[in-house]
Amino acid sequence: MTHPLQELRDAALAEIAAAGDVQALEAVRVLYLGRSGSISAWGEKMKTLSKEERPVVGKLLNEVRSAVTAALEESGEKLRATQEAGALAEIDISLPGTPHEIGALHPLTQMLDRAIGIFRRMGFALAAGPDVEDEWHCFDALNTAPDHPARNEQDTFYLPDGRLLRTHTSTVQIRAMESAPPPIRVIAPGAAFRRDEVDATHSAQFHQIEGLYVDERVSVADLKGALEFFLRELFGAETAVRFRPHYFPFTEPSFEIDVKSKALKSGEKWIEVCGCGMVHPAVFEEMNRARGDAAYDPEKWTGFAFGLGMDRLAMILFDIPDIRLFAQNDLRFLGQFA
Ligand code: DAH
Repeated sequence: MTHPLQELRDAALAEIAAAGDVQALEAVRVLYLGRSGSISAWGEKMKTLSKEERPVVGKLLNEVRSAVTAALEESGEKLRATQEAGALAEIDISLPGTPHEIGALHPLTQMLDRAIGIFRRMGFALAAGPDVEDEWHCFDALNTAPDHPARNEQDTFYLPDGRLLRTHTSTVQIRAMESAPPPIRVIAPGAAFRRDEVDATHSAQFHQIEGLYVDERVSVADLKGALEFFLRELFGAETAVRFRPHYFPFTEPSFEIDVKSKALKSGEKWIEVCGCGMVHPAVFEEMNRARGDAAYDPEKWTGFAFGLGMDRLAMILFDIPDIRLFAQNDLRFLGQFA
């Protein structure tokens, strides 16, 4: 004779097998194992049984409960898997995905980030100034005489009101000294503009990193040390650095710096990358006059300044043959630096 619990089990198992989806399965669970389910009801019924019957039926109840629970779980898993597979089947995985176009920094920006990183380690802070300048910041304050050829209309973009597009970033030296007394240690990256004939190495707009360091007892040795360190960090330890005597109105003595390195595509050729020198006392004196104080006493303070050609540095570093590529926005070019 089968016990009513065994009949309940068989009925439950049959209904579980017949359940077509998770909702139907849940209904079966509630019917048999829910709080007022027919199997659960046997828990209460136990109390009415005799001492002899109780352990036998108790054991049977446990077996029935776990058999039905196991069947519910197994069937539930299968139904969920089929449901998921059904949902996935509607997705055409052979369709091309949505491409995520990830941008990248412009090679000049990458170059600038590296340069700033190196100068930061030497304690240089960032400074900035406007692209549109007055003649005083661009020339007069930099000890550049009124008849100096750089001031020529053939070389410089003048605005109708007499202002101009700065021909170099040295203007920011002046602005830095106007706004703060020494000691001062800044770099100023930015655009500069000249009426040059545009070709592979000349552009009407190019970029420089200006540097200025004013303190007590700053010497040419400091200038050499700082710029050699910078150029070797940028181009590699084996880079040869050459200082050539030169002339700038705002520095004395003045130098131009050339580099060459076997590690670079330019190889054995010296390439000019920088103008620099010791700040001319006349510049300090003009600063004092403009500030109305004696903060830049040329007897007390000395300094070095430099202007690095940023496009030039990037062309050497990334082996770029033509300066015009920086401004053409050709993705075939820019994509190579992503
Ligand atoms: N301003 C110069 C140029 O554009 C470069 C330069 C030379 C900057 C000497 C300086 C300097 O600060 O001291 O060619």
